[in-house]
Amino acid sequence: MQEIGEVNAVTVPVGLGERAYDILIGPGLIARAGTEIAGRLPGTRAAIVTDENVAAVHLDTFQAALAAAGIESVAVRLKPGERSKSFESLERTVDAILEAKLERRDAVIALGGGVVGDLAGFAAGVVRRGMNFVQVPTSLLAQVDSSVGGKTGINTPRGKNLVGVFYQPRLVLADTEVLDTLPLREFRAGYAEVAKYGLINRPDFFAWLEANWEEIFSGGAARTEAIAECCRAKAEIVEKDERETGDRALLNLGHTFGHALEAATGYDGARLVHGEAVAVGMVLAHKFSARMNLASPDDSARVEAHLSAVGLPTRPNQIPGGLADAATLLSFIAQDKKVTRGALTFILTRGIGQSFIAKDVPGSEVLAFLEDVLRQ
Ligand code: GLY
Repeated sequence: MQEIGEVNAVTVPVGLGERAYDILIGPGLIARAGTEIAGRLPGTRAAIVTDENVAAVHLDTFQAALAAAGIESVAVRLKPGERSKSFESLERTVDAILEAKLERRDAVIALGGGVVGDLAGFAAGVVRRGMNFVQVPTSLLAQVDSSVGGKTGINTPRGKNLVGVFYQPRLVLADTEVLDTLPLREFRAGYAEVAKYGLINRPDFFAWLEANWEEIFSGGAARTEAIAECCRAKAEIVEKDERETGDRALLNLGHTFGHALEAATGYDGARLVHGEAVAVGMVLAHKFSARMNLASPDDSARVEAHLSAVGLPTRPNQIPGGLADAATLLSFIAQDKKVTRGALTFILTRGIGQSFIAKDVPGSEVLAFLEDVLRQ
């Protein structure tokens, strides 16, 4: 633990050469944001990109913290939700940055969840060919995944995240106390991505989560440590493969099945949110690995037991409203970007914390598996 003033925060460095940056994780960082940002970007002004929900709870405190450190700011408030990852919101954001006459050395600050971070990062990456960018993630999912690693972008009617750039922030401030205001369902959904890091390559972390998840939900040191460990895990992968030509794809564990389930529900968040889809998808990836004799069924049972204990769905038949048949799910998988010439790419596993990229998974095996799963 490193002391930052009176606040205990953990620092996780992301080692990307001249684009290296720190992730600070701990309670009270929103109130200290001005000092932390001014210390790294002296003389900066800022455009804060946020959404209406986050603005209602955190924007005043955040702007006051910036002002106390001498940072002038303007705020862009987006409508909450995935629809804001659009050309229209990008145009509005870019225009607000230019109207405030911000320069390349000034900062675009994302104050919000994954949608805000992806859109603000894209704006920061393209306005004046690249301004400073700071992430202040306010959801668990954004703190452990989307705010770290530099993926930015928007959706188009042809698909999600199809337009964007890799653009790393200069600093990430993950205030663990802001998670207290999240609805339980959203916190749980983010927790699926926490468990994912244990399942990818950190078996000891997964065992620690099994023992400590209740403390992570209630806050305090265990929450800070869990988020820091996820950021270390993600930083390690991003340092090796920033642009996803290899191992970064491991971060998609559970996402191929998960995206198909999200598509089958028409991305209706009332039925299934992304993290819940990832939870079901991770259980399916482990069950499918057992069916292919790669891993023991005991491992998939263990994954299912843990995710179920925290209250996440683990089986497709727990998704309300009825699902498409196996062939339709397979067609959603085949449309996913992980397909190369008919062979399906999945993240499979040899056991807890032993995930790997499997490039030649036969569609017929996946279809038979999904038929069995949907019957259960
Ligand atoms: N969320 C997956 C990645 O950053 O690569």
